[in-house]
Amino acid sequence: MNRHVTSPGTGHPAGTNMVDEITGHRRMRRNRKADWTRRLVQENRLTVDDLIWPIFLISGENRRESIDAMPGVERLTVDMAVEEAKRAADLGIPALATFPNISMDRRDETGSHSLASDNLINEATRAIKKAVPHIGIITDVALDPFTSHGHDGILKDGQILNDDTVSQIAQAAVIQADAGSDIIAPSDMMDGRIGAIRRALDEAGHQNVGIMSYATKFASAYYGPYREAIGTGGLLKGDKRTYYIDPANSDEAVREAALDVEEGADMLMVKPGQPYLDIIARLKDTFAMPTFAYQVSGEYSMIRAAAANGWIDGEKVMLESLLAFKRAGCDGILTYFAPEVATLLARR
Ligand code: PBG
Repeated sequence: MNRHVTSPGTGHPAGTNMVDEITGHRRMRRNRKADWTRRLVQENRLTVDDLIWPIFLISGENRRESIDAMPGVERLTVDMAVEEAKRAADLGIPALATFPNISMDRRDETGSHSLASDNLINEATRAIKKAVPHIGIITDVALDPFTSHGHDGILKDGQILNDDTVSQIAQAAVIQADAGSDIIAPSDMMDGRIGAIRRALDEAGHQNVGIMSYATKFASAYYGPYREAIGTGGLLKGDKRTYYIDPANSDEAVREAALDVEEGADMLMVKPGQPYLDIIARLKDTFAMPTFAYQVSGEYSMIRAAAANGWIDGEKVMLESLLAFKRAGCDGILTYFAPEVATLLARR
């Protein structure tokens, strides 16, 4: 080959040398050339240890209900939840997060049934802990499954009462810990709740029960399918903008998380997930805390719907969406895909 032929009009040697002049011989593609190099340089990896599986509960026995807006997700009676907990533990999923669909006759203005030691959340915790002691149980103390208006707090004269709500959820946290919950995850966004829950747990002798703060929960439209799942969609009057964070705000999210860290949170969560990767990265950089994302119902259903239409490869998008959380700085992800991903990862 004649190495001195020049490309027309450039004065550069022919072929790729012209490109080398531009790249200065720095070619990013060298590390991407084969599967083995790509594996060597891969910075983040999704494993089963990153997964928390949110499940929905209903009362009764031996029943599973499908949820129209969340194909592939079911509401489970406690006995079925125990079966699924066994499956999750066998797959290596570290923890479950439980969300109850409470029968309408048990819902009231103040969400008083949240304080019943035998409510659906606590019943499920006891049953799962008994049958599958080594899986972690994460429970929420927000009042929305229990209120007749679907808000996370006590509603009076059109206002969500902060302090009254905080004292109720701190009591609910102790009752959940009594039932065997390992981590209390308050999703209500009332001010001062983390400190109040920590104090109440400690006073009750639950020093080993942790708190995963929904530190930055945004007033998002991505929660729609979840509200169908727990039956609050039709109840909710107005919106949650007086207590959840404005999706426009990032500094405010950092301040909100700072307070939760000060008050004693063991772990932080960002919710929703994918539209808020910037918040995840900021929190991880700022606090160096165990940081989690909640890939919420709307994110799940959008992937499922597009896949069902043949518009995207659902499996690939699912894996990519979860890997993106790891890259942003997450230690783990709450995802409805958990058992499917765990099964897939086990096959690799
Ligand atoms: C409320 C709560 C929400 C979710 C879990 N708990 C949001 C809401 O209804 O306002 C959303 C979870 C999801 O969308 O998957 N405390």
